[in-house]
Amino acid sequence: MTSSTGRILVTGSAGFMGSWVAHRLAELGYEVYGVDNMQHGDKENIDHNKQKFTVLDLRNRSYVEDYIQYVKPEYLFHLAATAREGASQFSPILMTENNLNAYMNVLTACIKTKKLKKVILFSSMSVYGNQKPPFDETFERKPEDVYAVAKAAMERNTEILSDVYGFRYTIVRPHNVAGEHQSLSDLYRNVVAIFMNRIMRNEPIYIYGDGEQTRAFSYIADSLDCYCKCIEEITDGHIINIGGINHITINKLAEMVIEAMGEKTWKIIHLKDRPREVKHAYCTYEKSVSLLGYKEEIGIEEGIRRMAHWAKRKGPQPWTFERLEIYNEKTPITWFSDFDNKSGCRGHFI
Ligand SMILES: NC(=O)c1ccc[n+]([C@@H]2O[C@H](COP(=O)([O-])OP(=O)(O)OC[C@H]3O[C@@H](n4cnc5c(N)ncnc54)[C@H](O)[C@@H]3O)[C@@H](O)[C@H]2O)c1
Repeated sequence: MTSSTGRILVTGSAGFMGSWVAHRLAELGYEVYGVDNMQHGDKENIDHNKQKFTVLDLRNRSYVEDYIQYVKPEYLFHLAATAREGASQFSPILMTENNLNAYMNVLTACIKTKKLKKVILFSSMSVYGNQKPPFDETFERKPEDVYAVAKAAMERNTEILSDVYGFRYTIVRPHNVAGEHQSLSDLYRNVVAIFMNRIMRNEPIYIYGDGEQTRAFSYIADSLDCYCKCIEEITDGHIINIGGINHITINKLAEMVIEAMGEKTWKIIHLKDRPREVKHAYCTYEKSVSLLGYKEEIGIEEGIRRMAHWAKRKGPQPWTFERLEIYNEKTPITWFSDFDNKSGCRGHFI
């Protein structure tokens, strides 16, 4: 690292990746401020010795302006999001507010202080859409769903505002990260955590479609230093995929999770595909290796074992059911309040 001094704001710092990032930046010597509205965050993820934490909803523009005027961050690590990609078609307003609008509020307020040096924006590989993998950073943005549209707009707005206001930026595109601190109760995202909670709750594992979708999973600790290194000038103006090197099917992932949870077999139920889910999605990784030194020291198999150990200590969690904004026959049945988690049927509809 070229410097380990400076005031950093980490948004989404009670969430999965935000808490890891905030705490590592503090270990590196930075003064770390963290905010989260606790919509998907967990107070157990926050180490108050490593981040000065404030509950703040980034949708509330006047509160955000007051807070940013007080902190005057030099660096912004923006991770706050509702990252439920599959559910984004069914809650398009929330998805736009918590992703695009929230980011515009915090970024504009940071620019106004005239202290902002650099933004590290956590985007997503979803911006590549349905192109032929492996997705390379040189590919154009072709978002296929509401979440990806918000992320693509956040990326483009960063480039435009950087050009006008002169701050530096790096765009990080993580994909399929797993590890401790990930929400176990979120019904709408993070397949590894959902599978683990299903097993702990003695429910079948549900897989959308035939399970032959491919993704490249990675363990959070393998990516963490690369995320933090994005503060350095060497990454200025770059878009960087950061994530797993090898891709596997969701069926294979289910086997890995079942084994890591100490089970030999588990009941798996296949449901119909989720609308607009991209079948094969994984990225090139060469740029993360050459620019940031990305290495899979722990690897996803051992990472899942570590996560399983942590999940078992936390124990089975109740699912957080949140009403979607719009429903129709394409809505996955697991997201209806009358879904029976044991039988895999919808109460009075089936
Ligand atoms: N986990 C992955 O595999 C993955 C993959 C690609 C991209 N990402 C991106 O990385 C970032 C972190 O993802 P994560 O997996 O840690 O998600 P997460 O849900 O665990 O963390 C996001 C945090 O943002 C907070 N938040 C949401 N709306 C907010 C608002 N309006 N104001 C303040 N806080 C708000 C949530 O409460 C949550 O704690 C996100 O931007 C996500 O899009 C993650």
